[in-house]
Parts: sequence; structure tokens; C-alpha cells
Amino acid sequence: ATIYRKDYTVPSYLVETVELGFDLDPDRTIVANRITMQHNPASPSRSIVLHGEELELVELRLNGRALAPTEYKIEGSVLTIPRAPAQVVLEIETLCTPVQNTSLSGLYVSNGSFYTQCEAEGFRRITYFPDRPDVMARYTVMLRADKARYPVLLSNGNLIESGELDDGRHYAKWEDPFKKPSYLFALVAARLVCQEEHYTLKSGREVLLQVWVEEGNLDKTDYAMQSLKNSIRWDEERFGLELDLDRFMIVAVGDFNMGAMENKGLNIFNTKFVLANPRVATDIDYAGIEAVVGHEYFHNWTGNRVTCRDWFQLSLKEGLTVFRDQEFSADMIGTDSGRAVTRIDQVRTLRQAQFPEDAGPMAHPVRPDSFVEINNFYTVTVYEKGAEVVRMYQTLLGRDGFRKGMDLYFARHDGQAVECDDFRAAMADANGRDLRQFERWYSQAGTPVVSARTRYDAVKRNFDIILSQRCPATAGQPDKLPFHIPVAVGLLDANGKDLPLLLEGGDHPKGATTVVLELTEQEQIFRFRNVDERPVPSILRDFSAPVVLEYDYTDDELLHLYRHDSDAVNRWEAGQRLAMERLLKLTAQVSAHGDAAALKLDSTFIEAQRALLVDEALDPAFRELALILPSETIIAEQMEVVDPQAIHTARQFMRRTIGAALKTELLAQYHANQTPGAYSPDALSAGKRALKNLCLSYLLVAPDAAQLQLAQQQFDHASNMTDRAAALVALIHSGSDAASYLDAFYQDFANEALVVDKWFAMQAAAPATNVAAVRKLMQHPAFTLKNPNRARSLIFNFTNGNPAQFHAADGSAYAFWAELVIELDAINPQVAARLARSMDRWRRYAPALQEKMKQALEQVAARSKLSNDVQEVVSKALAN
Ligand code: ARG
Ligand code: ZN
Repeated sequence: ATIYRKDYTVPSYLVETVELGFDLDPDRTIVANRITMQHNPASPSRSIVLHGEELELVELRLNGRALAPTEYKIEGSVLTIPRAPAQVVLEIETLCTPVQNTSLSGLYVSNGSFYTQCEAEGFRRITYFPDRPDVMARYTVMLRADKARYPVLLSNGNLIESGELDDGRHYAKWEDPFKKPSYLFALVAARLVCQEEHYTLKSGREVLLQVWVEEGNLDKTDYAMQSLKNSIRWDEERFGLELDLDRFMIVAVGDFNMGAMENKGLNIFNTKFVLANPRVATDIDYAGIEAVVGHEYFHNWTGNRVTCRDWFQLSLKEGLTVFRDQEFSADMIGTDSGRAVTRIDQVRTLRQAQFPEDAGPMAHPVRPDSFVEINNFYTVTVYEKGAEVVRMYQTLLGRDGFRKGMDLYFARHDGQAVECDDFRAAMADANGRDLRQFERWYSQAGTPVVSARTRYDAVKRNFDIILSQRCPATAGQPDKLPFHIPVAVGLLDANGKDLPLLLEGGDHPKGATTVVLELTEQEQIFRFRNVDERPVPSILRDFSAPVVLEYDYTDDELLHLYRHDSDAVNRWEAGQRLAMERLLKLTAQVSAHGDAAALKLDSTFIEAQRALLVDEALDPAFRELALILPSETIIAEQMEVVDPQAIHTARQFMRRTIGAALKTELLAQYHANQTPGAYSPDALSAGKRALKNLCLSYLLVAPDAAQLQLAQQQFDHASNMTDRAAALVALIHSGSDAASYLDAFYQDFANEALVVDKWFAMQAAAPATNVAAVRKLMQHPAFTLKNPNRARSLIFNFTNGNPAQFHAADGSAYAFWAELVIELDAINPQVAARLARSMDRWRRYAPALQEKMKQALEQVAARSKLSNDVQEVVSKALAN
């Protein structure tokens, strides 16, 4: 059933305290729950509404009296007690079976230990409760379990008591001093060890920080701990927000649906975002750990202290917290060029995943109006586009203005469950700004297109930029109203220097070289005065809004920007535009002729790439990004009818041609960007490795013996996983036989689950891996669908990371997809629904492929026992 945002009603009862008692047993856990609640004067209803799923109800007592089955009713997952008194104490005893919980929502067992995941609606799988985020309560938790098997017992807040029980059992009692919604509840009962540290806050208060992992992983916790300390410091300095608890714990678990979870004081993480040492983790893994540790920590204020009124407001906490973790990562690098590199990465993510979502059947506003299954809305739109929306406030109001808005937001709403509109109101009120039109970023789906024209009047020395906007129709939203779009602009002179800008009607500081144009109407003219020559406009600097920019750049203008733009994002963007033009032409030629025989790449582009590659004034990290061609997925998004094999062939041709033409420079940069000595994940070293390994990958597109040897040597002698994995990927993609290297890699790391994931992932995405090869890999003893990381590593990296093979003409991979969605759905609906999304763009393919994709979708849709999760995704794909 579809749930609508407009149907929101306040809770009928408010909960003051929750006392939970757990007798933990994998087969039969007893949960005793004592809730004190009070009728909510704002609600006309006198019915107590509780949620519960997969629970066996043993007893239900109201104010001390056991209720007969006639005194309440259970319909689906809702338990209703009608005509309840104003003051209520409910005592509820239930049973559940954690060992059978493969959905990893609620209380489950991973590698023999207990963990929980309650967001969004997992708490109802632990006990009956008004499981909605606007019901905030104080929790006390008593955990009892076998001491030998579960020596560590953790929950939210502070440990107030622990001790021994009979029969080898022990207990721990935890109390969370802050009221919280049920989705932030957590417990862990496990055999774990921790790295811990006492840390002094700026205020002088001392807190205990812990990172808990399984035995044998204590050599991989340093970076998470360091990232946690950096996060705490950063939130104090940038936003004046202090850790409010005496104790803050991170626990790593190998079976986890998402990245991590911000449970109050007890963050639970996918091992992927905790465990790292140079031997097993890549630079990208290190960056992911920093970002996710930051993200979950920052939720303590943006999410936990101020939470969401309902799940439609999810981006209130997620968009804001992603923005915060992005700013944190950028500040940790600390240089302007490093910041720009993080920004370019964000743009790539948007184009790779969010723009396609916004253009597909699951398109939804940042604040959705309806959903069937909330778990399907933990999306790149809610997270990444949501972060862009938050970033636009900062672009419009300035850093100080944004900070004022944040301060007012907390002053008004600390301890409350609120809406996206409340955040916008705080930003507007703190700055005396009218942000009513800005609301459309929350309510309208689809990626706006900003179209620019320019004209230069040499006599009057005026340069006009005419901006217009439109937004494509999305499901349920045929017509859109204009957005409030900040468009940052600079003008380059013939030497590539930024002109000081004089915007008519603008109030920017004298001599500014970038100004933010506020596009609020369908079309607007912006006039720059005192412009002595026709400039080259650099539009949408720093990607100031999540839009598609159309402007008829000539190649010469793009080359000018690519050489000179002081805005690194637009400098990179110019290169991407030059590359995309060519990729689309080449793809069309391959489509027409069926092969790459007649393809040519112009020397202009090659020379531009050569110049950039060897420009040592530029960060290696930037040069790497500039030399990566737009991905096959991003190319596909530009095409009306997608031909995946032609895209692959064209892109490979371009890579091969660049590799051959720039061979000398690539080799020189390969050697110039080595990082000898002890491994460090810092941005400069990581950037050097990234550039070096990109050079390697170009050299290995069509390698000669010497080039192969380069990769083989790097593989054999690498002192860290970044270099080792990059060498292996280059070998796999070179077309030479990489089997012995794959075997060696597996032998070395068979006991490191996260590295085995990489091993599957790189094979899944290899050009030679077809569906038969994936099926064969599924027979490998290390493969299992039950572990989300493992399932994603092989299956998702094939369906999403290997488009030319996934879209094989015979449709065999679509049949495979259908099979897997169905099989996974019985194990873990959330993971299955993510896989189901691989078909989102099916309508963009040639009719023959479309027909086969549709069949596969219909085959899944026809199943009788589908989860809500998968059902929603496939039915929307077929409908829109
Ligand atoms: N709030 C978590 C985060 O972004 C994500 C948890 C989502 N879990 C889920 N099952 N939908 O950090
Ligand atoms: Zn989050």
C-alpha cells in the first residue's frame, strides 16, 4: 500500500520512558518491554497504535492488567488498543528468532553475534512500539546473554551496571540520557575487542571513544579512530557542536545492508567503513572510512538531537549530514585544489547515479510525497541531491549566513522531530531572506536544465548571459515551476585570466571574479558591464547547482577553459565536454559500422590531454580526474537510444588511442608519481597513486611486453593494496591472461573478507566477464548471497559496472538478473530491491533489448511472494 506525506497525523500517544529487557538467544530471544505513555493532547484519537513484525506476542499488560485478545486487535503489522486511558503503562513480552533474520533489519545474528539495525522500521521487529520517528523517549536497556559466547554487551548511552548471572550468563544495563526515536535504538552482544582512547573536548570535558571489531582486526582500527577524533574536532570548530555523551562507540559488523548507522552513542558500521590497514585497504577505502565515520558522527546533531517528523523528511537529516561529511572531507585536505577534487568527485557521483535516478521510473523529489517501502528511498536523490540542496543554501547565503541558519535551526528545534520546511525557515529567518521559491527543490523531481546564451556588445562593452530553465516531466509531475538556481559565473579574457566583474544590479564586492547569478524565472538576462573584449564564460562554477548546463561552447572555448579556468571544477568540466562530444560521435560511428575500424581521434584533444597530463603545477589528483573519460553509464545517459556495446567499443578506442599517443608522457608520469616509503593515505600521496595508476591503466589498454611487465612488477612488489589492486585491475583489463595473478591475489587474502569482495568485484566488472563467467564465480566456495557485501561485489558490479556484458544481445544477463532478484528477495528484500534497480533505464535501449528487459521485469513482477521493496521497484519500472 502506498503511504502519502499529506496523510500525516500526530501520534495518539507520546512515550516518556522505555525499559527493555533482553534475554538473548539466537533461536528464541525474549524481549520484555515496559513503556510509560501519555495521551497526546494534540490527537483526537484514544487508540494506542503499536507496530510489530515477525514477533510472537506472549503477553500484553495495560496498567498492570493482562489484556484479553478481545481488548486489542492485530492487523498486519499494526496492533491497536482502543479506548485507552490517558496515562498508560504497557508491559509487552515478545519472542523473536534472530538467527533466522536474514533481512538484517531488526535484531539479527552475524558471525555468531547479535547486532541490530532499526532504521527505518526495524525496531518493530524487536518489540511492539509506536515505531515512528516523531515518538521520542528515554530508554533503559538490560541485556542478558551467555558470557562466554557474548562477552561484550553494548547499547546506547552509558553503562550503569554489569555483573554475573547463573548458568554462565552475565548482564549489562545501559541508560541513554537523551530522548530518541526508536530507529536510533541499538544493541550489540558479541565477541569483540576494542581500540579505545580518552579524548578531551575543546570544553575540557573528557570522553571515552571506542572502536569495536572482531578479534584479529585490531590492526585495522587506527584510521577509524583517527577519523572519529577529527570529526569531533571539526564539528566543534566549524559548527560549534559538541559531543553530548561521555562515551561514543563504533562497532564493525560484516553483515550489514548499508554503510553504517548513527544509533545514539553506538554507531554500527559495515566493516567496509571501519577496517583498514595499508595491506588490505585502498586509498578509496580510507577516504570512505573518513567520510562515513564523519557522517555517522555528524548525525548526532543533524538527525539525532534534531530528527525527522516522518520518513518523507529523510533528507532533512541525510542531505544535511552528507553535506557536512563532504565539507569535513574537504577541510581535512585543507587546500583549495584538494577541495576542488572532492567537489569533482561529488559531481561524478551525481551524474553516474543521481541524474539517471531523476530521469528514470523511480524519480522522486528530495522530499518524496509517497512511498510503498521507505527502504527504497535511501537514495542518491535523498542523500546526494539532498546534499546539493543544502550546499545551495550555503552558496546563496555565504558560509557565515549558512552558519547563522544552522545556529537558529538548533536553537529552535533541539530535541524535536521536524520537517525540511523547518530547516528552510531557519535559513531564511536567520538571514532575512525570502526562500519560498527554494522549496521547489524539495517538492519537484527531475534534473533541471539550465540553458545559456550570450551576446557581446563591443560598443557598449556589455556582455549578457541569458539563462533559461526547464525541467523534464517525471512520474506524477508533468509540469514544473521554475527553481531558484544559484549559477556561479566567471569570465575569462583571451589570456585566460579572470575578469573583474561588474554585474548590473549586483552587489558583489568590487573586483570579484566569480559572482552568483540567481536564476528564479523561466528566463533572465544578466548583464556584465565594462567588458573590453568578448570573454569566454565559465558558467556553473564549482557546480553551484545540481543541473544540466547547456551552452554552445566551441571547441576553442572549451580548450581555453581547459587550459586556464581558475575554477578547477569547470576546468575539469571543459575536458569532460571535449571528451563527451567525441565519445558520442565515435559511438554513433561504431553503431553504424559495427566496429572500430574507421574510428579516428583528433590531435587537438590528444594534445590538450598531453598538456594537462604533464602540467606539474596541477595536483596529481586533479590530473587523474581530468584524464578519466566519462563512464559508460554517463555516456549512455546522453543518448536517446543506448547501444552499450558501441559505447564500450568507442570508449576503449579512445583510451587505446590516448594510451598510444601519450605513451612517453604516461610512462614518465608513472615514474614521477611513485610514493616510496611508508604508506600514508593523505590526499597528496593518494593523488599521486591515483595518477600513477591511471597512467598504468592507459598503458595497459593494448600493452606490449614491457608495459605488461610494468604492471606485473607493480603487482609483485606493491607495498599497499591501492597499488596491488590497481595493477591487478590493469592486468585484467589488458586482455592478457590474468588468471595466475587473480589466483595469487586470492591466496594472499583469502582470510580478508573485504579483499575477497574486491577480488569478486574486479572480475565482475572486467570486459571479458560475461554472464556465464559470473555464474561460474557464484560457484566459488567464498561466494554467498547472504552477505550483502559479497552479493554486491559480484552481482551488482556486473549488472551496474559492466554494461556491455549485462546488456548482451541475447538477453541472457537479464534472465540472470530476474533469477537473482527473486532469490535474493527471499533472503534480504533491501538488497534485492537495490539489484532490481539495475533495470531502471530499460526504456532507453533499442527495441530488441527493451523487449527482453521488459520480459525479465514482468517475470519478477509476476511472482506471488514478492517483498514490498522489490514489488515497488519493478512495478514502477514497468509503469513509468
Ligand atoms: N541513516 C543511515 C545513514 O545514512 C542509513 C541507514 C539506512 N538503513 C536502511 N536500512 N534503510 O548513515
Ligand atoms: Zn546518514
